[in-house]
Amino acid sequence: MKQKTIIITGANSGIGKEAARQISAQGHRVILACRNPERAHETAREIGGETLTGQLDLASRSSIHRFTDWIHQEFDTVDVLINNAADFDLSRTEPERTVDGFERIWFTNHLAPALLTDRLLDRLISSPQGRIINISSKGLMVHPFLTVDLKDPMFKNRPFSVSKAYYQSKLAQTIHTQWLAGQLTGTMVTANCIRVTNVRVDLSRFPDLPQWMINLYRLKSLFSITPEQMAETYTKAALNTEACNISGALLEHPFKENALPVYAKDPLVIEQVMHLTYRQLGITPSISYEVPASD
Ligand SMILES: NC(=O)c1ccc[n+]([C@@H]2O[C@H](COP(=O)([O-])OP(=O)(O)OC[C@H]3O[C@@H](n4cnc5c(N)ncnc54)[C@H](OP(=O)(O)O)[C@@H]3O)[C@@H](O)[C@H]2O)c1
Repeated sequence: MKQKTIIITGANSGIGKEAARQISAQGHRVILACRNPERAHETAREIGGETLTGQLDLASRSSIHRFTDWIHQEFDTVDVLINNAADFDLSRTEPERTVDGFERIWFTNHLAPALLTDRLLDRLISSPQGRIINISSKGLMVHPFLTVDLKDPMFKNRPFSVSKAYYQSKLAQTIHTQWLAGQLTGTMVTANCIRVTNVRVDLSRFPDLPQWMINLYRLKSLFSITPEQMAETYTKAALNTEACNISGALLEHPFKENALPVYAKDPLVIEQVMHLTYRQLGITPSISYEVPASD
């Protein structure tokens, strides 16, 4: 077996950490891309194997640049990028801004993974079978009419709702995956999205949750699966040979394909959302990849 290099964002807790553990147990090199270096080192020590850490705060553009510069310096190839980290502190009642002035949820959960992926694309293309795995939420099913607000994704001129902000960002990630899969046709890189189901959350991570939300989470936990169980789908999407020909899919636990929301596969929507994404990032997509002539 050839050892792969796999980056997982937000891998010091929850599903990301369990995926890192499972992937490392299969002998691969895992890079935990986390904002808190101490927690990342502690997790790397706990997992063992060839588990490395890199500091990455997805709410900061310069941090994304530093992280990707480090990856470029250290690694010729990245085989798998799992965009797992997300801001989902549902106790928030007002929009917060990142250091760069973006609404925090939109940036962390959508613009940041788009920027990170774009900046690592050359390394993924260097892999014999690069894989990009984005993370969405099964909770989108209870918002069937949700769209990405192309005019105001950052709630500048409309009332802020943390749940709308979160699900909008997850919908945008589903769309980002569709766009990547289309753009990467003809390369060996695939892009798939996992819609995470109801997974047990460590409530101590959210000290400001109001009591009614704590009660709701407790109730939900009666029907939730464990992070270890959900991570099995991440691990299969990252490593299984049967996943290597799948691209543009919406996967869920236990590893299976699901129908995409009609909105998320509408070519016009995909174009509009990704145009907005790159305009807000102020960059042009680096996917102008030329398919090498066959021998
Ligand atoms: N649990 C569920 O029921 C559920 C349902 C649907 C979707 N999901 C999705 O599943 C994924 C994993 O969630 P989880 O349940 O494993 O929750 P989790 O344990 O809270 O994991 C989220 C991770 O994201 C990291 N993160 C947050 N903001 C960040 C930033 N600015 N920069 C870098 N990392 C940041 C957190 O780091 P810190 O430790 O530093 O805070 C944490 O490690 C997320 O994308 C989530 O949206 C979960």
